[in-house]
Amino acid sequence: MAEAPEISLDPVDWSHFSRLAHETLDAAIAHMRAAREGAPWRPLPETARRDIDSPVPREPGDLSEILERARRSILPYPTGNAHPRFWGWVMGNGTAESVLADLLASAMNPHVGGYDQSASAVERRVIAWLVELMGYPRSASGLLVSGGTMASFVGLAVARRVKAGFDVRAMGLAGGPRLRFYGSVETHSWAEKCGDVLGLGRDAFRRVAADGEGRVRPEALRLAVREDRARGDRPICVVGNAGTVDTGAIDDLAALADLCRDEGLWFHVDGAFGALAILAPSLRGLLRGLERSDSVAFDLHKWGYLPYEAGCVLVRDREAHRDTFRTSASYLDAPGRGVLSEPLEFAELGLQLSRGFRALKVWVSLQTHGVDRIGRVIAQNVAQARRLAELIAAEPRLELLAPVNLNVVCFRYVEPGLPEPALEALNLEILLRLQEDGVAIPSSTRRDGRFALRVAITNHRTRRADIEALVAAVLRLGKSLRAGGAS
Ligand SMILES: Cc1ncc(COP(=O)(O)O)c(C=O)c1O
Repeated sequence: MAEAPEISLDPVDWSHFSRLAHETLDAAIAHMRAAREGAPWRPLPETARRDIDSPVPREPGDLSEILERARRSILPYPTGNAHPRFWGWVMGNGTAESVLADLLASAMNPHVGGYDQSASAVERRVIAWLVELMGYPRSASGLLVSGGTMASFVGLAVARRVKAGFDVRAMGLAGGPRLRFYGSVETHSWAEKCGDVLGLGRDAFRRVAADGEGRVRPEALRLAVREDRARGDRPICVVGNAGTVDTGAIDDLAALADLCRDEGLWFHVDGAFGALAILAPSLRGLLRGLERSDSVAFDLHKWGYLPYEAGCVLVRDREAHRDTFRTSASYLDAPGRGVLSEPLEFAELGLQLSRGFRALKVWVSLQTHGVDRIGRVIAQNVAQARRLAELIAAEPRLELLAPVNLNVVCFRYVEPGLPEPALEALNLEILLRLQEDGVAIPSSTRRDGRFALRVAITNHRTRRADIEALVAAVLRLGKSLRAGGAS
C-alpha cells in the first residue's frame, strides 16, 4: 500500500505568504497610527461576533480570508487601552517597536525555560537591567511572568519557602502552624488569591489600617504581627505597596524594611505600576526602601507602556528563589554541553516550564527609548494627574475623593442636596456614558463607601488637552443628566 504523502504546516507558497504578511503588518501599523482617532472603545457588534464564532475548523481555510476577517472583526474592537483617553483600571498602551519584537519572537518561537540560546541571554540581560534600575544587588535573580499577580505569587511563594520554618515543599502545610502575611487595606486582591492557591488560605492575609494618604500604618502592622505570633500563628511576610491600585499610595517602604528586619519577616513589594516610578528622578525618593525588599513585583505592561504580557519579579536571594521552584526529571538532565548544557535556568524560578520570549520586546523597547525617556513620560503622567486634581479642585461641581499621590485620581460629580444613592447612580451613569459615547475610559472604585470615577494615567499618549476634555465632559454629562432627571 502506498504511504500517505508527508505534510507540514508551512505555507505552500511562501511568496504569497509574504505578501499577506506585509499587508497584515501594514494593517497593524495603520491601527497603531490611528490610536488617537475615534472612540477608545466600541462594543463588539453582532456581525463581528459571528465572524469570530465559526464552527470547529476541520478543513484548511484560506489564510487571506481569515486575516481579512481578523482585520474586519477583531482588530477594531480592543479594550481601547491604546487610546490617549484610556485611563481605566491600570493598563499600558503598548509601543510600536514592541510589535516588531513580538513578530520576531514568534518567528523564532524559542522555549525560554532556559537552554543555551540567544533568547535566554536576552532575558538574562533584561533582568540584569531591571535589577540595576530597582537598586537590587547584582546577585539578585528575576523572571519575566505574565503580570503583577503572577509576579507577587512568585514573591510570596519564596517567602513561604524561606519563612515557614519547615519544609513546605516536601510536607505541605498540614499540621504546621498557621502562616500569615500582612499589608494595608489598600493592597490589591492578588493577596487573597495567592494566599488561597499557595495553601495559606484567603484569610491568611491580614489587612491593616492605612492613614489618610492610603499608606499602611507600620505600627499597626507590627502590632498585628505580634498579636498573631502570640496566638501561635507564624507571620512570614509583609507586603509593601508601591502604588496602591485605588489611589497610587506608596507605603513607607523604608519603615516596612526596618520592621521586617526587626521581626524576621520577608519583605515583598507590590510595585505593579508604581515601582517603575523609580525611572523618574523627581519621583524616585517616594520609593526609598524598595531597594531593601526581598522581592518586588512590577509590570512593564503597565507603567513601562509595553504590550501585554510583561510582568517581572525580582528576588534578592537567588538561591532561595531557585530553591522554591527547582524540580528534577531525568528527561531534563543537563549534561554540561549541547542545547541543554545547564539546568533550565528560568523554569527553575517559577511555575512555568515552557515559556515564551517575552524578553525580546523589553530588550527592544527599553533600548529604543532609553529608560530616562520612559521616566520622563512617567513624570508627565503624574503631572497630568496633578493637573486633573487642580481642575477638580477649581470646580464646585466636582469633588476629589482621595489624595492624588501619584498618577491616580478619584473624584465625582456632586450637586448640593443630592442624597448619596442618587449621587452614586448619577456618577455611574456619567461613567458609562463616557465609555459608551466614546469620550474616554475611566473606571470606578469606592472611597469611604462613596462611588468614585477613577482615572489611572499610565498612558504615554495622553496630553493635557485630553484631561481638560474629560473634565468638560463630566461637567456636561452631570448637568444634562440632572436636567433630564436621571438620578
Ligand atoms: C497594585 C496592583 N497590584 C497587582 C495588580 C495585578 O497585576 P496583573 O493584572 O498584571 O496581574 C494590579 C493590577 O492593576 C495592581 O494595580
